Amino acid sequence: MTMRLFVPRDAAAVAVGADEVATALERAAETRGLQIEIVRTGSRGLCWLEPMVEVATAAGRVAFGPVSDTDAASLLDAMVADGPHPLRLGIADDIPWLKRQTRLTFARCGVVDPRSVEDYRAHGGYKGLERALTLTPDEILADVTTSGLRGRGGAGFPTGIKWKTVAQASADRKYIVCNADEGDSGTFADRMLMEGDPFLLLEGMTIAGLAVGATNGFIYCRSEYPHAIGALKSAIAIAHKAGVLGADVAGSKRAFDIEVRTGAGAYVCGEETALLESLEGRRGVVRAKPPLPAHKGLFGLPTVINNVLSLAAAPFILAEGAKAYADLGLGRSRGTMPVQLAGNIRHGGLFETAFGVSLGELVDDIGGGTASGRPVKAVQVGGPLGAYFPRALFGTPFDYEAFAARDGLIGHGGVVVFDDSVDMARQARFAFEFCAVESCGKCTPCRIGSTRGWETIDRIVAGTSREANLALIEDLCQTMRLGSLCALGGFTPYPVMSALKHFPEDFRRPSPRLQAAE
Ligand SMILES: Cc1cc2nc3c(=O)[nH]c(=O)nc-3n(C[C@H](O)[C@H](O)[C@H](O)COP(=O)(O)O)c2cc1C
Ligand code: SF4
Repeated sequence: MTMRLFVPRDAAAVAVGADEVATALERAAETRGLQIEIVRTGSRGLCWLEPMVEVATAAGRVAFGPVSDTDAASLLDAMVADGPHPLRLGIADDIPWLKRQTRLTFARCGVVDPRSVEDYRAHGGYKGLERALTLTPDEILADVTTSGLRGRGGAGFPTGIKWKTVAQASADRKYIVCNADEGDSGTFADRMLMEGDPFLLLEGMTIAGLAVGATNGFIYCRSEYPHAIGALKSAIAIAHKAGVLGADVAGSKRAFDIEVRTGAGAYVCGEETALLESLEGRRGVVRAKPPLPAHKGLFGLPTVINNVLSLAAAPFILAEGAKAYADLGLGRSRGTMPVQLAGNIRHGGLFETAFGVSLGELVDDIGGGTASGRPVKAVQVGGPLGAYFPRALFGTPFDYEAFAARDGLIGHGGVVVFDDSVDMARQARFAFEFCAVESCGKCTPCRIGSTRGWETIDRIVAGTSREANLALIEDLCQTMRLGSLCALGGFTPYPVMSALKHFPEDFRRPSPRLQAAE
């Protein structure tokens, strides 16, 4: 009998040797005369256990990890004997870190073969599209609106309203653009999804197309994601053959097609209007709004632009009903958020959970504290433009409004942990430096202010007119916040001001120059 094994082909798993493990398992099986089939899946998101290998058994899939190529022989022996092994983790679905999650968007990731549309269907795929094809565009829009889904790219704008605006715009042609630039530090959910369950994104985009009357979609993916680009291209070709993309989607006589475009690597190209410029073949410079992309977007036509996770949530909402989604969450943050635990953390990875979980629970309990074993000092939530939260704010629930009330943001769900060896003055300097490097240059507060910012932090750290320069930073941050055209310049004050507010001692240390003089 053939033994079915599952080895991730996810970039994070490949980076720590998943390909070598797959090859070693094949060789060890050959030596033993064992018949095995290796399915290359995505990742389940338990990054510290990668490469995580699974084997199908009568009781369910049994997981082992982290596996190296030298473990292959002993692993196969343990699998055949269904016996103990030091890397055995038990039934994969029962691993507490997975069991505690509410996996809606990531239900199939790490489970299915991302190159098989049959496997996707066998695990509930395309149910949402099938239902959408029986509905009117207004009914689809009503479902998405009722679900309470908000954009997962950063701003948390209600997806139903965005789709409705495009649906109501009259034009010969409309577009669906998927923002897969994923530039936020510590985030990887888009990548994991595109690599591990690409048909879900294609299905979500097709549903969006039906809702607003668009027949073409583009996925704008960062160039640093070659594995995701490969997975998407192959899924698009397979979906064409299966008749779920193209001139006649699932026999409905309605057309929808998708192309992948690769960015050249600029953080600002994740900003929706700069992304559209780049997609049209120009340098990624932010456009002034209005007009909104929903009215005048790609090539001047009405365009839905959504993050990967926003679009990937649509199939669940259509398949299981808006209520099933809206029943989860807290306040105006409905449904689930795929939280990405990163930085100096013991159990880093992707944890999908209903909104409302506290930051402390995510960092201390689920994440297991720091990887270094030292105390947690600060957590940056929401990417490079997100605020640094001290332990005193760990009771904050994961919720758009709760974070905004504490001068922070959830952004794309990235949680980056720092231990007590971090110097927050350096982090504040880095925020300005990042802004200076990534600024598109269109507006003065961001283009010039970011450079003046890190120069001023340097003076503060050196002890030069410290109090005056601290006041200057506050003033500069206020100017950038109010005067910048987009959130790159407008939100850079969040990390800077939170570092100053919560960790003032790091800006007031005796400077090396002053110490030498004493
Ligand atoms: C500097 C900057 C970078 C951004 N980067 C991303 C990104 O990488 N991915 C993303 O989905 N949204 C990003 N956004 C947000 C987008 O402008 C936009 O709000 C989002 O694509 C809308 O989709 P959503 O409603 O599904 O969140 C960025 C915004 C700014 C200001
Ligand atoms: S804030 Fe910065 S990135 Fe945004 S438009 Fe102005 S210069 Fe460009």
